[in-house]
Amino acid sequence: MTLRILHEKQIILGVSGSIAAYKSIDLASKLTQHGALVETILTESAQRFVTSLSFQSVTGRSASANIWEEEEHVKHVRLGETADLFVIAPATAHTIAKLAHGLADNLLCVTALASRCPLLIAPAMDGGMYQHDATQDNLKLLRSRGAIIIEPAEGRMASGLTGKGRMVEPVELVGHIRKVLGRGGNLKNRKIVVSAGPTQEPIDPVRFLSNRSSGRQGFALAQAALDAGAAVTLVAGPSALEAPVGAEIIHVKTAAEMCEAILSEVNNADALLMAAAVADFRPENPANQKIKKTADKLRNNIPLIPNADILLAVKEQRQKTGWPLISLGFAAETQNVIDFGKEKLKRKGLDYIAINDVSDPMAGFSVDTNQVTLVSNQGIVYEIPVQSKTNVSERIIDVVSQHLASGNTANSKH
Ligand code: CTP
Repeated sequence: MTLRILHEKQIILGVSGSIAAYKSIDLASKLTQHGALVETILTESAQRFVTSLSFQSVTGRSASANIWEEEEHVKHVRLGETADLFVIAPATAHTIAKLAHGLADNLLCVTALASRCPLLIAPAMDGGMYQHDATQDNLKLLRSRGAIIIEPAEGRMASGLTGKGRMVEPVELVGHIRKVLGRGGNLKNRKIVVSAGPTQEPIDPVRFLSNRSSGRQGFALAQAALDAGAAVTLVAGPSALEAPVGAEIIHVKTAAEMCEAILSEVNNADALLMAAAVADFRPENPANQKIKKTADKLRNNIPLIPNADILLAVKEQRQKTGWPLISLGFAAETQNVIDFGKEKLKRKGLDYIAINDVSDPMAGFSVDTNQVTLVSNQGIVYEIPVQSKTNVSERIIDVVSQHLASGNTANSKH
């Protein structure tokens, strides 16, 4: 799927000689599938592990290795001048040393010197080599010049030893790449708080009440806000999804925990995007011990009491503090969808409500798509037809960032 943040972005992928080079084929493939234009440069030793043809095959673009055999005149200058990002993955200790000291004895290093774009380096090497003062000093030097170093992960390395030296996985690298490309976006210097997922309300230590929310819409909103350059805090109920790279994640279980986290986080936030499916009720007296099946308690009834409405609590706090500048809720409805949604917009003191009909098989819980009618408290209606939750999120983020840019908010700090 094409992602707006990567669409037609020119990325140079530098690959140096580590066994992790095989993962870079996957990285090149993922970036290409998301719409990036990837040109690869391999070092001579990288070619011992992987071939140029592998990269050409997945990117459909050139993958070069030898500066002397290049047909294109001053290719390194053309690449360096036009690229949006230079990613070196994997970066060996040797290549890192050469980059730090400005050596230019292969196409990868010469292109790095000719580049004006951000440089992202994903080291891969044995743990001892990574920790060595020489490597650490070189990385420090590169950092001081603005390079972004993606720290390797801990784990088993090719040597059989365990340590910190494994190149981070391609899917995570894509997240770091999105973050760098999004840096100057419309939400630069903005803090966005997003809530996602269900809540779980304990009945006893092993049972709970919950709902079908997967967290997909909230996680997609968090990613879209990151792509637009925001600092994102994601307050997430239990969800199987991986947190987007760059988001600060606060894990919560119950509605009460979610409420507490949100009230504290929105105090300096530009917007709250409340996508979580919060349980409206919780068992009144959760048992401390597992309830046995011989007990009548579960069979007969589980007394429930209402949870606090988090958006109402935010409304009350906002009346005193002015934060967050924008409050956006979701309305999950199955009937009278628009009318019920508009009523929630008003009652919860929102700037926007994203209304979706959860009885529609293409919208709502546990599917990848959604269809949303976004209504503002000024009566403006944005129809967002059925599309991926990623695209729906981009549209919502566009509306929120335009609103913030207009400065027309309750308590503008700009
Ligand atoms: N919400 C909340 N606190 C709750 C329940 C819901 O902040 N205790 C938020 C949801 O995150 C969503 C919005 O309120 O952004 C609307 O949620 P929804 O479930 O559609 O409505 P409810 O207020 O729960 O009302 P009802 O279930 O009666 O439709």
